[in-house]
Amino acid sequence: MNPTGTLTKTIDETRQGEPFYSTDYESIVSEDIKRFYIESYGCQMNFSDSEIVAAILTDCSYFPTKDIENANLILLNTCSIREKAEDTIRQRLKTINKVKARRPDTMIGILGCMAERLKQSLLDEEKLVDLVVGPDAYRDLPRLINRVEDGDKGINVHLSREETYADISPIRLESNGVTAFISIMRGCDNMCSFCVVPFTRGRERSRDPFTIIAEAKHLFEKGYKEVTLLGQNVDSYKWNHPDTNEHYSFANLLELVALIHPDLRVRFSTSHPKDMTDEVLHTMARYENICNYIHLPVQSGSSRILSMMNRTYDREWYKNRILAIRSIVPDCTISSDIISGFCTETDEDHQETLSMIRWADYSMSYMFMYSERPGTLAARKYEDDIPEEIKKTRLSEIIALQNAISKAHNAKDIGKTFKVLIEGDSRKSENEFKGRNSQNKMVVFSKEADFKPGDYADVYIESSTSATLKGHIVTS
Ligand code: 5AD
Ligand code: SF4
Repeated sequence: MNPTGTLTKTIDETRQGEPFYSTDYESIVSEDIKRFYIESYGCQMNFSDSEIVAAILTDCSYFPTKDIENANLILLNTCSIREKAEDTIRQRLKTINKVKARRPDTMIGILGCMAERLKQSLLDEEKLVDLVVGPDAYRDLPRLINRVEDGDKGINVHLSREETYADISPIRLESNGVTAFISIMRGCDNMCSFCVVPFTRGRERSRDPFTIIAEAKHLFEKGYKEVTLLGQNVDSYKWNHPDTNEHYSFANLLELVALIHPDLRVRFSTSHPKDMTDEVLHTMARYENICNYIHLPVQSGSSRILSMMNRTYDREWYKNRILAIRSIVPDCTISSDIISGFCTETDEDHQETLSMIRWADYSMSYMFMYSERPGTLAARKYEDDIPEEIKKTRLSEIIALQNAISKAHNAKDIGKTFKVLIEGDSRKSENEFKGRNSQNKMVVFSKEADFKPGDYADVYIESSTSATLKGHIVTS
């Protein structure tokens, strides 16, 4: 497998740079309205932020379009997590330059982590860019756009300790109408030594739980059947009621969302091994509609490397968290993020990562080569001393092993029947539906009369690959 290939780049590779838009606004035709086009890169949090941006923009009469040629405002919601993510944006700007050459009035904006990291220098380096807006400054977009319309540049990269966009109802862009993401917190206080996120997204803050529940209820009323609660580290969610001082933990929040309706599935991401509590696991075990799937990034299997990464747990601690999952939520699948070639990583450290993948029996993993990010603890403290070739070879071994494990994991599901939430047509055929089981495995099966997206179906699994389960609907 190509070590820089499809599995290695980002959280959802198929969605990188996806133009986001909503058909709800297509029919609005008026001289006064303007159109924005937005592409999102990076993690799910960015895709979710684009929906907040869309809500702010429609409020000031900018409506979404999927046609870049038709847009008055082109926005790229960017990611800085690895160097390659930023290179992709630089390349994309080159093609967007051609649009600007044809239509010089078009405004170009960079949002998200790259805006936050590069600040003014982005305006200096990329002459076509008019707007640079960091993740906590989206409310300021209308004012910044006005400035650009008046011939200035607009920049706001202020990071906030309070902003959670709690009161903004996101506009669901490119939605399947069945599954949605809800941002429950922003920022990160963890300071993993390799990671730029604490610098680009600022301090951790949790959103008012009542606004989260209201958003989830509203989605359910509109026909959605699954919400994923999003945060860099959901287990450290905490909120105190300003009047009663009542405390809400992540386990409390999870329970409140699960109680909305048994037909509304609840997922969450990402869990940090140091913070994931048994209380969360017991809550998962109590509610059938909280899905049995945990994304629990290990990053490395070596305690020495974990310490240098400042992950604040070691191999034994991590294994104990997995044992807790296995005993409290027995049919829970676990997935991971893994970095190859972190500073000073030896072949022994690498072997420990491989043995952890085997032991943990991950259903899948997101796997990356270490990419030094300017300003991070690792960049300041350690030399990026593992040659690219070795990083690549190790990554290939990690990917090959994970693929074999995913394949075996899925093969064990043959002969089982799962409750699957139908999300829509499968990628390959209009005659097939796709959906996921509680364990977050993609299931593809033949369509049957009476079933539509948003319905639950019991699907008997007949065959599998490393990425998908295949089967047919069984009626009880
Ligand atoms: N290099 C490579 N991978 C990284 N990640 C975060 N920072 C880096 C980096 N500098 C990975 C981690 C994290 C995931 C979202 O991205 O595995 O969990
Ligand atoms: Fe980055 Fe670590 Fe925070 Fe995740 S938990 S965003 S890897 S600093």
